[in-house]
Amino acid sequence: MQSLLLPPDFSPSLPVWVLAKGQEQGHLPETARAWIAATGFEPSAGRVLAVPGPGGTLLGAVFGVGAEDAKSRDPFLAANLARDLPAGDYRFEGALPDARLAIVGFLLGSYRFDRYRKPEIKTVKFAVPSGVDVAEVVRIAEGVRLARDLVNTPSNDMGPEELESAAQELAGRHEARCSVVRGEELARDFPLIHAVGVSSPRAPRLLDLTWGNESHPRVTIVGKGVCFDTGGLDIKPSSAMLIMKKDMGGAANALGLAHMLMDADLPIRLRVLIPAVENAVSGRSFRPGDVFRSRKGITVEIGNTDAEGRLVLADALALADEEEPDLLIDLATLTGAARVALGPEVPPVFSDDDAFADDIVRTGLAENDPVWRLPLWRNYEKMIASKVADVNNAGTGGHAGSITAALFLRKFVEKAKTYAHFDIFAWTPSARPGRPEGGEAHAIRAIYAYLKARHGS
Ligand code: BES
Ligand code: MN
Ligand code: ZN
Repeated sequence: MQSLLLPPDFSPSLPVWVLAKGQEQGHLPETARAWIAATGFEPSAGRVLAVPGPGGTLLGAVFGVGAEDAKSRDPFLAANLARDLPAGDYRFEGALPDARLAIVGFLLGSYRFDRYRKPEIKTVKFAVPSGVDVAEVVRIAEGVRLARDLVNTPSNDMGPEELESAAQELAGRHEARCSVVRGEELARDFPLIHAVGVSSPRAPRLLDLTWGNESHPRVTIVGKGVCFDTGGLDIKPSSAMLIMKKDMGGAANALGLAHMLMDADLPIRLRVLIPAVENAVSGRSFRPGDVFRSRKGITVEIGNTDAEGRLVLADALALADEEEPDLLIDLATLTGAARVALGPEVPPVFSDDDAFADDIVRTGLAENDPVWRLPLWRNYEKMIASKVADVNNAGTGGHAGSITAALFLRKFVEKAKTYAHFDIFAWTPSARPGRPEGGEAHAIRAIYAYLKARHGS
């Protein structure tokens, strides 16, 4: 199925009546009211009822939005319309609780990864409800789709080279520049990216995309681009390795976010840094007990080769920090511990900037893209202490794994005015409205809305 928006001058014939539970049905035609009574249809949130007209035609449909004050109502329930309605051109009759998010959900719900199979043909189209900015909802949906496509593409077709191509393509589309440091060139200036990536015959690289006016506020997004995470010599069991194509989800989300920001032409100087590597097993793999001097000069002992994400991010963050950005954000599928703490739907955000943390949590809830703050609890730094180097890349004791990972990253940022780390899942394990199973955008609609409120006109 496909969900599309109709041009504003186009007036579609088929009405979709929005109905709350217990609401008067006076605005519905007689036939629709009779059909609701005959079928016993309850307008619970997200339910759709097609209403037949004379001679086997379609008169329209009813869309239930549940109780008017429902706290638990998912703003993306309008995604059900693309799934449940027959193909056709529709318009809403009656006000949706949150029309903008409903349309975003409608556009995102029909997402399907069809690179390797035939696309579905059904197309449901809607007129844009008044007050909804079409360009805005479309650019948000495009950013999310880009992130999902990149995550869903299997690792055999999404290695460091293909991730580079995706960044180059996005740069070309928005007149951004993209420079790349590849393979052995990384050894001198980015020793940690080199150490992880050299295990694979697919050369590691650091992608560096910049866009916008140099005099504008500097916003830098760093995305974890581990194109497949075997765990390295500390190899993962098969059950844990199964979805590790998604370990470049931070990079995919960074590119999806960059699309939204550049397309909206926000007055910022944007930089996207992506360490793109494969954490593979080979004779060149880095080893438990190895010690590396990072770009920043901090020495790192390898406690676990499966804690590779924080290594590649450390060198990228150190580079980002050197130009003192106003806002430095990283997005990373960094720990299983973040999922243990908050589950698959709510990524933790770590920041020392209280105002930023409050704003992003509030904005995330308002955008139906929730994030939740966890503390950079400094007393846990002892868990990543090393006896031979400045720091160990893996925590001891097995507690607070998402926090110790965040504390590790924090050491590589000193000059950025605000720094925030998002430990995202980038995956929807079972489908929900507007969120089909598979690769997912996490935190980027929240960050986009935050940046738009801060820098937009
Ligand atoms: N990519 C994983 C984290 C991950 C695992 C995210 C499962 C989502 C689902 C990361 O590289 C990793 O392996 N982290 C280890 C760290 C540990 C070795 C200190 C983890 O979380 O177990
Ligand atoms: Mn790992
Ligand atoms: Zn990983």
